[in-house]
Amino acid sequence: AFHHDQQNQLCQLLPRTQHSPHVQLQKNILYDLYQKKGRLVLQVGKSTLQTGTRATTEKGLHCQHWQATTPHDHRFLPSPRNGLEDNYCRNPDHDKRGPWCYTVDPNIRHQSCGIKKCEDAVCMTCNGEEYRGTVDHTESGTECQRWDLQYPHKHPYHPDKSPDKGLDDNYCRNPDSSERPWCYTTDPGREREYCRIRLCKKRPRPHNITTGCFRGKGEGYRGRVNVTVSGIPCQRWDAQSPHQHHFVPEKYPCKDLQENYCRNPDGSEAPWCFTARPTVRVAFCFHIRRCPDELSAQECYHGHGEHYRGHVSKTRKGITCQPWAAQAPHVPQISPITHPEADLEKNYCRNPDNDSHGPWCYTMDPRTPFDYCSSPSAAGSTTPSILENTDAVAFEQCGRRDERLQRKGRIVGGQPGNSPWTVSIRNRARVHFCGGSLVKEQWVISTRQCFSS
Ligand SMILES: *[C@@H]1O[C@H](CO)[C@@H](O)[C@H](O)[C@H]1NC(C)=O
Ligand SMILES: *[C@@H]1O[C@H](CO)[C@@H](O)[C@H](O)[C@H]1NC(C)=O
Ligand SMILES: *[C@@H]1O[C@H](CO)[C@@H](O)[C@H](O)[C@H]1NC(C)=O
Repeated sequence: AFHHDQQNQLCQLLPRTQHSPHVQLQKNILYDLYQKKGRLVLQVGKSTLQTGTRATTEKGLHCQHWQATTPHDHRFLPSPRNGLEDNYCRNPDHDKRGPWCYTVDPNIRHQSCGIKKCEDAVCMTCNGEEYRGTVDHTESGTECQRWDLQYPHKHPYHPDKSPDKGLDDNYCRNPDSSERPWCYTTDPGREREYCRIRLCKKRPRPHNITTGCFRGKGEGYRGRVNVTVSGIPCQRWDAQSPHQHHFVPEKYPCKDLQENYCRNPDGSEAPWCFTARPTVRVAFCFHIRRCPDELSAQECYHGHGEHYRGHVSKTRKGITCQPWAAQAPHVPQISPITHPEADLEKNYCRNPDNDSHGPWCYTMDPRTPFDYCSSPSAAGSTTPSILENTDAVAFEQCGRRDERLQRKGRIVGGQPGNSPWTVSIRNRARVHFCGGSLVKEQWVISTRQCFSS
């Protein structure tokens, strides 16, 4: 870090940054503070850095002034450059236990001040998904790449796309339910690496536990459903066959990966499991119901949703919506002023222009001006979806058995997996080119390589 003293047009290089141990930022209009963060130099503002002012040891003894030589004579005398001020705890000899001082007690020459290292002050629980500390290097000591940069490593974890993952600066994070927080490194030869972060002693706050149904994404689901939506038995979490995986129960102590129960250890949409069938790796357990208190009427919409007044505020891709009254990152054409009747509250999804794809919002991602929203049960149709109901009979509208098709075989050359309804996708000449699964009356899931755009 360095100061720019505007009055005297002088720069002063500082031996520490805001992130060094025991340093605090202090407002000071006389100086512009700049500091290095990764490979960038950022202006912090009109500030100076102040070092710690603790002056008692871990056992509560007062510190001796550094310029004093009684009761203890010593060689660490203050100079303008060594930072030994007053009687503050300091670490002139780089002691492993951190800052210390000579004490005013003649019988105890010096003692550690018990000041935690910055990076120890914030600890993590479970797999560190909630960790928001400032460790910014990997366990091998390599500097982390900033999350908002795509070099040296290209990656999908952009902070704007995942605002709830805390992808600030180049701090170690765990956005993908890895074992521990990690980061992309600034070393082009090493893509990503784990970081060393202390585990907290206290237990994490538990999720809202449910057993008969699930709330939210079902991360707190602890019930005993052990088959997939289409009835395939789940693979035990402590087994590595038929599917190899990294969700080993010992490594995910807070996720309750018992037996072969459906669970959601990775922030997926709902509880899921690896299946006991080699051809079907994972499947959701959508037959576990949402808890009734979550299925409030306002989270559904009818028609085009032009009267939808619920509180969904994320798009179908999970991007947070921009408040309707805001002017950034996107300058809205439609606002509470232009559409006063549309209840454009906060950043809730709305359909002020009767868009046929339903409620939408401007998004906080600078590269996505707007997007449509998903609602838990938003289809507005009265027919149960097979995602919510395994019972094929209830799906009669769409999956009606056609005598002619049934004779030929409704499912061709495969096993029914997550969804019992298999679809042949054909080109204009009616030539089959890909398969798909019918997941809702009007929706087919296929794979990306089947389509050019
Ligand atoms: C747990 O449930 C309470 C009351 O139902 C709710 O206020 C709270 O937000 C829930 N917490 C989580 C983490 O879902
Ligand atoms: C599922 O769990 C029940 C007990 O809750 C057990 O009787 C049954 O065998 C299990 N099924 C599978 C496929 O593991
Ligand atoms: C929205 O469009 C639908 C279909 O075109 C129409 O039936 C409905 O009345 C429209 N709603 C409003 C508020 O204009």
